[in-house]
Amino acid sequence: MSRLRLAVLISGRGSNMEALLRAAEDPAFPAEPVLVLSNRPDAAGLKFADAAGIAAVAIDHKAFGKDREAFEFHVDATLRGAGVEIITLAGFMRVLTPWFVKRWEGRMINIHPSLLPKYKGLDTHQRAIDAGDAEAGCTVHWVSAGVDEGEIIAQARVPILPNDTADTLAARTLPAEHRLYPEALAAACHKIRETSGHA
Ligand code: GRF
Repeated sequence: MSRLRLAVLISGRGSNMEALLRAAEDPAFPAEPVLVLSNRPDAAGLKFADAAGIAAVAIDHKAFGKDREAFEFHVDATLRGAGVEIITLAGFMRVLTPWFVKRWEGRMINIHPSLLPKYKGLDTHQRAIDAGDAEAGCTVHWVSAGVDEGEIIAQARVPILPNDTADTLAARTLPAEHRLYPEALAAACHKIRETSGHA
């Protein structure tokens, strides 16, 4: 069975990207990374991808000023040029326009560090602590027009402990993200295969 051609979009550290690339080292994994793309040229994850032999490309959003669609047009052309079939957003810190989201509908997933629908957006760990929640976690979901609102594919939970700070909770959640994202990506690939008849 052929593997779906995967792009990972990042903005920084890229630890989730690393987890995805490692999972895809197994030839039985249903996605094959062909491109890592960052909107920030200094993203640490680009170096890791390059060293792993994956095409690593920076498209600096700042070069496009406020013109989000012009930035996304270049991203889209790069993705299509690489024959990408599925996109994972992995700490990609740009909100995407409806144009781009529509173009990749059903082919783009994101990881978010909260138990959605709770705490869409930023500062998720602090908000969970401030709310007195007993647990936090992470969610992988399909990307739809509303930020962090698409259909949920999978979630993982971690406890919130007394004296947790946003940093300690983030450190506990991150390994759960690294376990969850490859599993959820595999599930997303199977769904795409089912619905598109991809061989
Ligand atoms: C992760 O916590 C992810 O859930 C969030 O941004 C962080 C990215 O970390 N969207 P990394 O770049 O994958 O290490």
